[in-house]
Amino acid sequence: MKIFVDSANLRDIESALQRGFASGVTTNPSILSKEERRDFHTHMRDIIVLLQRYNASIPLSVELFTTDPQQMLAQAERFLHDFGDYANLVIKVPIGWDELRVIHAIRQQGGQVNCTCCMSYNQAIIAAQAGANYVSLFWGRIRDTGYDAAAIVRQVRQTFREWDCPSQIIVGSIRHLMDVNEAHQAGADIVTVPPQFLPLLCAHPKTTEAVAQFMRDFEAWAAPDELAPVPARAARLRTTAPASANGKGPHATPARGARTRPAGALARRAPK
Ligand code: E4P
Repeated sequence: MKIFVDSANLRDIESALQRGFASGVTTNPSILSKEERRDFHTHMRDIIVLLQRYNASIPLSVELFTTDPQQMLAQAERFLHDFGDYANLVIKVPIGWDELRVIHAIRQQGGQVNCTCCMSYNQAIIAAQAGANYVSLFWGRIRDTGYDAAAIVRQVRQTFREWDCPSQIIVGSIRHLMDVNEAHQAGADIVTVPPQFLPLLCAHPKTTEAVAQFMRDFEAWAAPDELAPVPARAARLRTTAPASANGKGPHATPARGARTRPAGALARRAPK
């Protein structure tokens, strides 16, 4: 079970990288269109540079933005040429008859493919048969048509298991927090999550209540110097260069004797 970030926003991607949980990034033309208008290649390069800055060797899906069969092939080759230096570049190709040819051609050239916009069992299966490394099933959009997205993910999972198929199932088109849980439980290898849901994945009102209680109780008990902010040197050590953010990499280890959080800051955050 992995979480990808479904965003082309540099700040949102960086927020995820700083927290170490992101196992990949997915973009599409609509997601890109939410960003400030600029050169497509420059924007994608900035995402790659950001991933490299965090030593995040994670899949980055970049989608074709044409539907013309010849142009799709040409564009895929250009992506491989322009961004292929990033080893985990994944070219996103929508499912379709002409598109299968593009998927096959990219795979023949050694590129990786995320076959996107899959809404049905048969689309996911044929995409995998054409060699797609990832098949993206669109949870929210499937449900819009009255079909059971969880059932489709379960069926694809079962067939992949029976074949020992190397393709991975990505579930996208997440509309609610609960979609993430249900997609994972249905058998998705990966759920790609829009940034607004990411902080919610680690939030719970009872957690907030428990932490606030701990802070209140400690503040009432501790000596005043315990509650003072930690010295600047310890604070600097805590905020050293980015730790690896490949989803498994090492986490920065606090210096010996350094506190992991300034008690003062926690005490300030605690409600009265
Ligand atoms: C993921 O890779 C997809 O591009 C994305 O989740 C699409 O979802 P939508 O239904 O919000 O367009």
